[in-house]
Amino acid sequence: MGNDLNVTIRLKSVSKYYHRSNETLSVLDNIDLDIYQGEVLSILGPSGCGKTTLLRQIAGFDHPHSGSVLMDGQEIMKPEVKRMMIFQDFNQLFPWKTVIQNIAYPLQINRIGDSGAANREIALNYLNLVELSGFADSYPHQLSGGMKQKAAMARALALNPRVLLMDEPFGSLDALTRLSLQNLLLKVWLETGVTIVLVTHDIQEAIILSDRIAVMGRRGSGGIKKVILNPLPRPRTAGVEGYSEVYDQIYSLLDLNSENIS
Ligand SMILES: Nc1ncnc2c1ncn2[C@@H]1O[C@H](COP(=O)(O)OP(=O)(O)OP(=O)(O)O)[C@@H](O)[C@H]1O
Ligand SMILES: [Mg+2]
Repeated sequence: MGNDLNVTIRLKSVSKYYHRSNETLSVLDNIDLDIYQGEVLSILGPSGCGKTTLLRQIAGFDHPHSGSVLMDGQEIMKPEVKRMMIFQDFNQLFPWKTVIQNIAYPLQINRIGDSGAANREIALNYLNLVELSGFADSYPHQLSGGMKQKAAMARALALNPRVLLMDEPFGSLDALTRLSLQNLLLKVWLETGVTIVLVTHDIQEAIILSDRIAVMGRRGSGGIKKVILNPLPRPRTAGVEGYSEVYDQIYSLLDLNSENIS
């Protein structure tokens, strides 16, 4: 890690601001960040600090006011299948299509498999990977929130992206489902080798899952305070030796005094 050859995504002096009535909010102020091939990088910070804004620049949904966002050295101009985004919202699936149709449809649109049957087979493989094959013919309204997020993961992964961008994907799940989806995400990461950029509010989730944690400052502070290299060996659980030191380091960087939270 740290070698230029391994850099997949590079943010160079990225600035993004929003105008509102007579104030200008500087959300990203001259951010530099390298994301390495195959790593799990978490972006952690308080509400409103700019996590989604940062992810949207990487996805290509939005563009910075200055600076550049590169993938493999090429400027990111628009969303592309090699960078897939997953959201917190449970309603990411087409409600009128079954689970397997939801996964096969983008394959058809992007001309991945050479027949409907081939796309169905690819879709089934990814449903197996996320442990949801028993619900292939169910409709989204028949699934729990956790199952919907699994289906959204399968749909994104079936397109074989290089980078998976996840915006608080487990943020609306109950604590136990969240733990099981975190384990699933690790399994998927090990099996596919996909690079993962995970936005989260949850310090424990960031420590358990990621190789590095980019900690952002409070709203309006302009971006990333520090990128922490996670020293804990995998597999990790909360409470493993060294865990509380990493937790405390992140906690103090977050500067969570009540007057700092908007
Ligand atoms: N289109 C927009 N126009 C004006 N202000 C915006 C716009 N999008 C975001 N903002 C502001 O920019 C700041 C950063 O927003 P962003 O959604 O990136 O934060 P976040 O860290 O993802 O927050 P959360 O944790 O609540 O999802 C917020 O204060 C928000 O109000
Ligand atoms: Mg957000």
